[in-house]
Amino acid sequence: TSIHSMQLITYEMLMLQPPPAKYGGRHTVTLIPGDGIGPELLNHVKEVFRFSCVPVDFEVVHVNSALESEDDINNAITAIRRNGVALKGNIETNHTMAPSVKSRNNLLRTSLDLYANVMHCQSLPGVQTRHKNIDIMIIRENTEGEYSSLEHESVSGVVECLKIITRNNSLRIADYAFRLAREKGRSRVTAVHKANIMKLGDGLFLQCCREVASGYPDITFDSMIVDNTTMQLVSKPQQFDVMVMPNLYGNVVSNVCAGLVGGPGLVPGANYGRDYAVFETATRNTGKSIAGRNIANPTAMLLAGCMMLDHLRLYDYASMIRNAILTTMNETRLHTADIGGQGTTSEVVQSIMRNIQSKGPLTTDL
Ligand SMILES: *[C@@H]1O[C@H](CO)[C@@H](O)[C@H](O)[C@H]1NC(C)=O
Ligand SMILES: *[C@@H]1O[C@H](CO)[C@@H](O)[C@H](O)[C@H]1NC(C)=O
Ligand SMILES: *[C@@H]1O[C@H](CO)[C@@H](O)[C@H](O)[C@H]1NC(C)=O
Ligand SMILES: *[C@@H]1O[C@H](CO)[C@@H](O)[C@H](O)[C@H]1NC(C)=O
Repeated sequence: TSIHSMQLITYEMLMLQPPPAKYGGRHTVTLIPGDGIGPELLNHVKEVFRFSCVPVDFEVVHVNSALESEDDINNAITAIRRNGVALKGNIETNHTMAPSVKSRNNLLRTSLDLYANVMHCQSLPGVQTRHKNIDIMIIRENTEGEYSSLEHESVSGVVECLKIITRNNSLRIADYAFRLAREKGRSRVTAVHKANIMKLGDGLFLQCCREVASGYPDITFDSMIVDNTTMQLVSKPQQFDVMVMPNLYGNVVSNVCAGLVGGPGLVPGANYGRDYAVFETATRNTGKSIAGRNIANPTAMLLAGCMMLDHLRLYDYASMIRNAILTTMNETRLHTADIGGQGTTSEVVQSIMRNIQSKGPLTTDL
């Protein structure tokens, strides 16, 4: 239809180009250490990048989550606007602070309009899990839905919490999912919803997915109610290919999927907008209880670094580091405690660097 082709033209323009490299082919990226295990994991990313001679310079911006002022997060947002790309640890949200103090992570995503959260959940070699051969791409709407921060208690004891679903944002996330599916050679996109209860809100989301699907006849489209989705995921996860969903379901489903392939220490995540890209661990936890003990699994953050290198089109560096990570993962004796081993963070990182070295220096088209 003409409406549909008009939307396609609009959203084609949303494809994000990475910022060009500076003189000498180097890139500057904003680095937000965050809280908990964030700072130590990002130090390891820096260490591995330096070891691999990756042409990326980090501009470190600290965000102090104990302050109510938004100055720190605004500085971080300004830095990302300047550099175009960021790698971050999760910033703690103190739930005892006033409701007006919003999650810094959420503020960052909405301010930069990072509308697409992307997580690739894949079974890893050497990691023991109940289910094998999982390969799911989760595309989560990242700016609205239940995360609108619009809540009020006009009548005492009655809180209204608004879930915002818009046609424009639903179309753009659906189109993102289909475009990614096509680019990655995927064959099916499943929309996750609860339109049997939220007939208008989720109904609109589902309708937008159907409209976009009609422009991608080469890709099968289907939908599944969120409750059935979580049940199907824990019983037969191999049935899923690409999944697209509103914000909160995306949060729940991506955590279920991370659990299926070995846990939060293993899976990276990315947030893309029209202008900026921010990379982090997929499940966005701070890991406060294991911070500073050299036991956190560095895999998820290092893989987030690799996703960032792919975004910067430094594909050779990305695949060199990724392959070294996978080789290390395959050695059970090096596993950290979260996946049943006794290895330390630094032992894993040392092994990854040895695996990079054993492949020899990069010599081709850099
Ligand atoms: C959370 O905020 C409250 C009130 O501002 C403060 O008393 C408490 O120490 C904070 N907790 C953490 C873990 O920062
Ligand atoms: C939706 O997008 C169109 C085209 O970009 C724009 O003209 C319109 O104002 C948007 N609608 C809303 C409600 O934001
Ligand atoms: C749940 O999903 C499965 C797999 O697609 C489907 O066969 C089944 O009918 C669904 N169940 C419900 C109650 O929708
Ligand atoms: C993992 O180890 C097994 C057995 O030791 C080997 O067959 C397999 O090729 C390895 N996979 C990777 C990705 O290194």
